[in-house]
Amino acid sequence: MTTVRFGPAARGLRGTVTAPPDKSCSHRAALLAAMSSEPVRITNYLPAADTHSTLDAVRALGALVEERDEALIVRGPGLRAPVVPAGPLDVGNAGTLMRLLPGWLAGQRGGARWTLDGDASIRRRPVDRIAEPLRRMGAELKATAGRFPPFTVTGVGLSGIEYELPVASAQVKSCVLLAGLLATGSTTVVEPVPSRDHTERLLLRSGVPVARDGDRVTVGQVDDLEPGAIHVPGDPSSAAFHVAAAALVPGSRIVVEGMAANWTRVGFFGILARMGGVLVGPLESPGGPPTGEEPVCELDVAQAPLQGTVVEAAEVPLAIDELPLVALLGCFADGETVVRGAEELRVKESDRIATVVKGLRGLGASIEATADGFAVTGTGGLRGGVLHAHGDHRLAMLGAVAGLASREGVEVVGMEAAAVSYPGFAEDLAALAG
Ligand code: S3P
Repeated sequence: MTTVRFGPAARGLRGTVTAPPDKSCSHRAALLAAMSSEPVRITNYLPAADTHSTLDAVRALGALVEERDEALIVRGPGLRAPVVPAGPLDVGNAGTLMRLLPGWLAGQRGGARWTLDGDASIRRRPVDRIAEPLRRMGAELKATAGRFPPFTVTGVGLSGIEYELPVASAQVKSCVLLAGLLATGSTTVVEPVPSRDHTERLLLRSGVPVARDGDRVTVGQVDDLEPGAIHVPGDPSSAAFHVAAAALVPGSRIVVEGMAANWTRVGFFGILARMGGVLVGPLESPGGPPTGEEPVCELDVAQAPLQGTVVEAAEVPLAIDELPLVALLGCFADGETVVRGAEELRVKESDRIATVVKGLRGLGASIEATADGFAVTGTGGLRGGVLHAHGDHRLAMLGAVAGLASREGVEVVGMEAAAVSYPGFAEDLAALAG
């Protein structure tokens, strides 16, 4: 395990950083490319541990993946011809891969069987949330202790369903929509509140008639997918760490380039703006018309005094991976910052309610865990200390940002976890901090 110390920033963060390629869009680009029978060129694919797991998985399923002229060329086995590898498909640490892939495999006819497994963290993450709708469509899934990896998916004919998601989850929605491409009749997913819509956008671009009507999204069976060339936008969840650092360290002014502006991904920036953060950037307006595009933007951020805020359940899916940063901002804000309706945090790469509360408390924060979130009382800053990443990439990066903004600095134990989504994170942050 690597321990790295992040000392208090000697001056404000300054300069321009390019947002690294988006993890969610990279997973989807590789999967849809593999599901297509045409070669697909992907540019700006994320070179990180999670998205390497996806490339390894599609290779194991019969895709040829080549790197050429700074792009990936994926020649897939096609929608109805994934092969069965000799051993299990290893999803590594990637929850998105684990939850999307079964949608494609479950709809294969002929009784082929795939086993999916991953690392120790993946083996603690439930798959019953995808097993339930897939079984309703007719799929066969067998999980360890009924709900954990390793699990098997047997390809059988599926029928379309209408499925109301019990919790807003883009992973579950995407899994059911992918299965819908192979099912008879139409498949509709109803969301309690909107979640990220990259799958819908990519399916639209691939020639799939995707009907969106308020909280409902419907697809039908298709013969093939034709996504054309795919460019992956910059990752708002990764950029959010630099943005939070700039919002906290006095004298900061940074610009983030190439970041996805998709309204279903940028909830964190709205929360920061509400807290008093100074940021300018043309983000998409909520609930815009269906589009197949992933627009990018440039975000200009400066440090400012912050006020506490309340984040309610409807906002949670739009900022789910950035909620640990909301807790950090709350430590520096005036008054109380509360996050509610975020019990999903308990089944991320770590139990992020427990690890964030324990981690920030260890640095001097006044923070309480609740069943579905946390409450932070601003104390004008953080002392610093030691924070354990618990193998969770977002915890490691949270510790680094906390270190820069703290009075005494933070030692992050397990900093290598950042490579799951953002291998160049520490270097990019150091360049901004000078
Ligand atoms: C993701 C969706 C979110 C998010 C995860 C990536 C995706 O999970 O936390 O990091 O790419 O669809 P849920 O949809 O399960 O909330």
